[in-house]
Amino acid sequence: MSKKLFIQTLGCAMNVRDSEHMIAELSKNDEYSLTTEAEDADLILINTCSVREKPVHKLFSEIGSFDKIKKKDAKIGVCGCTASHLGDEIFKRAPVVDFVLGARNVSKISKAVKESKFISVDLDNDDSEFSFADYRNSLYKTYINISIGCDKSCTYCIVPHTRGKELSIPFNIIYNEAKKAVSNGAKEIFLLGQNVNNYGKYFSSAHKKMNFSNLLEELSQIDGLERIRFTSPHPLHMDDEFLRVFSTNDKICKSMHMPLQSGSSAVLKAMKRGYDKKWYLDRALKLRELCPDVSISTDIIVAFPGESEEDFKDTMDVLEKVRFEQLFSFKYSKRPLTKAATMPNQIDEKTASSRLSTLQARHNEILDEIVKTKENTTMKVLFDELRSDGFVAGRSDNNFLVQIKASEEMLGLLKDVRIDKARRMVLYGEVL
Ligand code: 5AD
Ligand code: SF4
Repeated sequence: MSKKLFIQTLGCAMNVRDSEHMIAELSKNDEYSLTTEAEDADLILINTCSVREKPVHKLFSEIGSFDKIKKKDAKIGVCGCTASHLGDEIFKRAPVVDFVLGARNVSKISKAVKESKFISVDLDNDDSEFSFADYRNSLYKTYINISIGCDKSCTYCIVPHTRGKELSIPFNIIYNEAKKAVSNGAKEIFLLGQNVNNYGKYFSSAHKKMNFSNLLEELSQIDGLERIRFTSPHPLHMDDEFLRVFSTNDKICKSMHMPLQSGSSAVLKAMKRGYDKKWYLDRALKLRELCPDVSISTDIIVAFPGESEEDFKDTMDVLEKVRFEQLFSFKYSKRPLTKAATMPNQIDEKTASSRLSTLQARHNEILDEIVKTKENTTMKVLFDELRSDGFVAGRSDNNFLVQIKASEEMLGLLKDVRIDKARRMVLYGEVL
């Protein structure tokens, strides 16, 4: 009988895919099967995120909680971005941990579970051509990594120190993965990377010349594939060709994540984002012009060191001009190994909280206005989630969460839905 594996995944979509890869590797010879109860597990994996400070603090109390409830001989492994940057400090602070596996070292999971006090946090490890076994959380939507690591050095961000340098995954690996997923019933592929539209800049072995726009066009030829999504593109690499392919290819979902971070050119410079307010607005407004149905989501950090009231007003100004359909907003969090952590003029907590509330309150007003305009429109929705309350949920082409009263027969189907009630977080409708 196989052993039981419990896995807790924090952080971004890349971590979700890393967890799928670890599950795949551990279950390929029926060695492990998944459980949702940590108490029953022979192996507990915590796949961590270190992008902000809070979850890192929580890690050690979480390890303590798992230690209390786990079976006597069960192992605990700490994986992901916090594993990368804390390394063997994790063993010192939590001796109960059996192994530490960094975010760039996922392919070593089978080795990690077998050896005593295994640790691998090598930032040069190259998994870009590793052939992982297959496992996916969803039949209908499938995550596919197209690159590993990050080639930027945004001064607030710990990720280059946890996921290492950027390497693109060879086209044939991506293509075969997509084809296989589609032949197993997937309707949608979701391409993942830190800067997806920088695809093709670095490969670890010889590769034909290819950029992200080419990749999108090639993948969209796959028969039976209905939808392509991706995250995250970088505003700096949103050239005209990319915006044209995005807007004109019917298989590409009309939802774009454009991480702004700040609307102030001075702050963007201090963040080393590589673009200014003018470039960002130009790209976002051009996208709206080319693609009127597009939804634009963004990430914004308030209270970056040195951010003045004027700088913050620039961020509010971009919010007014772009009117994002979705906003992920954060107070700046000081991270080890980053340049911004040692910058003068760190902003006090009260100012940071007040700016975050101002931003979120205004965005809520904008969103209420946006969703109202969706009432009595028709959206194409891929249903993939059965809710306990008699609803089935899915995402529209432009990434709104849509619910209809229906049963599980609707799962996996792509349907036109008329929206009759729009709420900030969810739109309700009926299949036409
Ligand atoms: N503080 C606050 N937010 C951060 N992010 C990344 N690093 C930090 C930090 N030090 C945010 C960015 C990024 C998102 C994934 O997390 O907005 O796009
Ligand atoms: Fe993802 Fe960044 Fe968190 Fe790592 S630190 S899991 S890359 S969000």
